[in-house]
Amino acid sequence: MAIPLIIDTDPGVDDAFAIALAARSPEVELKGLTTVFGNVGLDLTTANALRLLAHLGRTDVPVVRGFEGPGGAADVHGEDGLGGQALTLPENPKGVHGEDPVRFFADNLTPDTMVAAIGPLTNIAAALEAGIEFPRLIVMGGGLGIGNMTVRAEFNFWADAAAARTVIRRGNPIVVPLNLTQQCIADTEFLANVDPVLSNLTGTYREYLARHSEQNLSGREEGILVHDAVAVAEAIVPGTLSLRVHGLDIDDEGALVGGKHQVEVAEDCDWPALRAFMEQRLSV
Ligand code: RIB
Ligand code: CA
Repeated sequence: MAIPLIIDTDPGVDDAFAIALAARSPEVELKGLTTVFGNVGLDLTTANALRLLAHLGRTDVPVVRGFEGPGGAADVHGEDGLGGQALTLPENPKGVHGEDPVRFFADNLTPDTMVAAIGPLTNIAAALEAGIEFPRLIVMGGGLGIGNMTVRAEFNFWADAAAARTVIRRGNPIVVPLNLTQQCIADTEFLANVDPVLSNLTGTYREYLARHSEQNLSGREEGILVHDAVAVAEAIVPGTLSLRVHGLDIDDEGALVGGKHQVEVAEDCDWPALRAFMEQRLSV
């Protein structure tokens, strides 16, 4: 029986790989995408979500437009959020399903529904503050002592620190931080073997990482960091990531700091095996 999955997302190139991985995995039933500002502004993340689903043959999946905020990573993901290639993806005749993510979660969360949050946590925090509980929540974000927006803060948590604090304190999430995802490099061989429409989105991101080798920790090969797909892989095959509980909180900058909130953190994975899993699922 496929697990219902809702992805809260700011596509975004690595979000695109994560959404495609979910759409092409029979273990999960993609019940919806809720969009949020992040890599680029909300209009573009929402348009990109619609087009990605059209490309994947999944116009049946509803897209719910969430909360706006300042876009902030065009240097990584391109001005359109998809490496300048968003318009190479097909139009989605369905259009936006709704504009209230809190209502969508209230109407669609069942006891076995998994939610993967792979952008700023504004939508998720709003739902928690409205009294909604997430039965199973996986979050890509944060860094233990590292960051990619400041030396200590990761983009998704930095972009809405108050929301990240709410989610850490009240959402009982599994957190998949940079410490793990910066090891997960989809290199040029991987990109040559997967859906060429997805690979075609990665030019800006590859050039960015080539210029910022400190974020490509190994510095060994060109490619992209598939942060979001690593988090979604745990939703698809629970146990993919090795988890350990940490006492955490969030500071005003959105950095993960020590605290009283007991949070499961993904610390390790078998990246060669996970890479092969992703490559197999994302090949066409
Ligand atoms: O820091 C990485 C995260 O920020 C990923 O979700 C990426 O898509 C960006 O949103
Ligand atoms: Ca993202």
